[in-house]
Amino acid sequence: MQYLDWNNSIQTLNKAYETGLFVLIIGPKGTGKTSLVRDFAKGKGINLESINFSLRTRESHLVGTKTLTDGTVSFDEGVLIKSMRDGSMLYLDEINSAEADVLLRLDEALDDRRQIALKESTGEVVKAKENWFVVATINPLTHSGTKELPPQLLSRFPVRIRLEYPPEEVELEIVKKHVSGDHDSDITQAIKLANTLRQAAAVEELFYSPSLRETIAFAKLIERGMGAKEAANFVFGNVYTQWGDIEYQKVSDIITSMFGN
Ligand SMILES: Nc1ncnc2c1ncn2[C@@H]1O[C@H](COP(=O)(O)OP(=O)(O)O)[C@@H](O)[C@H]1O
Ligand SMILES: [Mg+2]
Repeated sequence: MQYLDWNNSIQTLNKAYETGLFVLIIGPKGTGKTSLVRDFAKGKGINLESINFSLRTRESHLVGTKTLTDGTVSFDEGVLIKSMRDGSMLYLDEINSAEADVLLRLDEALDDRRQIALKESTGEVVKAKENWFVVATINPLTHSGTKELPPQLLSRFPVRIRLEYPPEEVELEIVKKHVSGDHDSDITQAIKLANTLRQAAAVEELFYSPSLRETIAFAKLIERGMGAKEAANFVFGNVYTQWGDIEYQKVSDIITSMFGN
């Protein structure tokens, strides 16, 4: 899947890469953060090591773990160490979901010396190769389970790219990359619906904001012959049931007004 670079993010990543500055991508879910990073790495032909952070991510996931095979203890290096040794690209997804102790360990590697002591095994100090490149993403603070990044860690990523939901006509182009056939009018209507719901969620009138994943899913159902209103219910409407009937009814009424009875 080719990434549609609608706000020149690839160019920004290129400049950061060339100058050895690490990058933070900020934006809500489903705005193309992961796709952008994958496409960039592929275009450059550089190896990509990724980790998706959650409350359960431990230092060992980054640094490595001791393993025992046939009575011999060895150390299985984690993504952080691997990428430093290889000088590859490290993608830290949703970094603000991680616990403070994990972030602290990460900070050790990200500071200007770009090195880390393997206190878990031999104590060796691993120094990153010259072209080591790190890109992290964070979701805006309104997302549940996300925390503010400590300022000193934030400062390790001096280049910040903002990714928002694209303008309507750009979103149509992106969605069309994922389906074939001409369903422009239905897809345009679904994008308008998504934007209405996004705006309502932004002012906390609704609990959920649909992403590009939803507009793409809608288009795929339409492509398979499903009716537009039915697809809109499955993809956009039904999810609101989990916040109760009133919440669901609000959205259901919007869908009816946009897609008919
Ligand atoms: N600019 C884009 N070009 C092509 N596809 C995109 C673009 N932006 C988003 N998408 C698609 O939208 C979906 C969500 O994107 P993803 O990169 O997973 O978002 P995020 O990492 O921000 O949650 C994917 O299917 C992706 O292919
Ligand atoms: Mg992602």
